Amino acid sequence: MGDAVAIRWGVSASDLGEVRRCSLYPFMAPSAELDAEMMANPDTVFAGAFDGDSPIGCIAVLPESKYDCGLRIRWFGVLESERCRGIGTRLVESSQEYAAQRGESLWADVRIKAIPVYERLGFEPLGDFFDLPKIGTHRVMKWASSGLRP
Ligand SMILES: CC(C)(COP(=O)(O)OP(=O)(O)OC[C@H]1O[C@@H](n2cnc3c(N)ncnc32)[C@H](O)[C@@H]1OP(=O)(O)O)[C@@H](O)C(=O)NCCC(=O)NCCS
Repeated sequence: MGDAVAIRWGVSASDLGEVRRCSLYPFMAPSAELDAEMMANPDTVFAGAFDGDSPIGCIAVLPESKYDCGLRIRWFGVLESERCRGIGTRLVESSQEYAAQRGESLWADVRIKAIPVYERLGFEPLGDFFDLPKIGTHRVMKWASSGLRP
């Protein structure tokens, strides 16, 4: 059950590379190039959702100022077999706590499928929908840390 799943911060990119690929880019084969993308910004901080020692979901937060927000969320994904039990919600919530502790707001390019998760947690859409090749339709969403629920 979702209760047994732990969210851990400070996980290395290499420990989350495969869960990121399987969740977000299942149409791509494993490659050094795909893994290297995760390390491009050394200030990126990763969180994993773990069932025991097995990573089943991931999210990253990195300093990238845009839309009046200091932090960006990237690589939010949960293994297909583990979806719809609240793990994705917990990963985004945990990122909100991370940002709020630093007095920062968050933005993300959000895939259509994830919009309801972000919306329920107080993120607001910005601008029009846009397409990213191979991945699909997205919308920018942002969240102001002052909006964190007590
Ligand atoms: C988007 C994604 C990360 C969501 O992860 P998730 O763990 O399934 O997220 P949650 O379980 O918190 O929420 C998903 C749905 O399950 C529902 N749900 C949550 N707990 C539930 C439960 N116990 N019982 C039934 N449904 C539940 C939620 O209400 C939500 O429904 P909705 O999307 O229709 O509004 C996941 O679908 C995914 O990895 N998709 C592919 C990659 C992707 O699109 N990533 C987002 C990039 S921006």
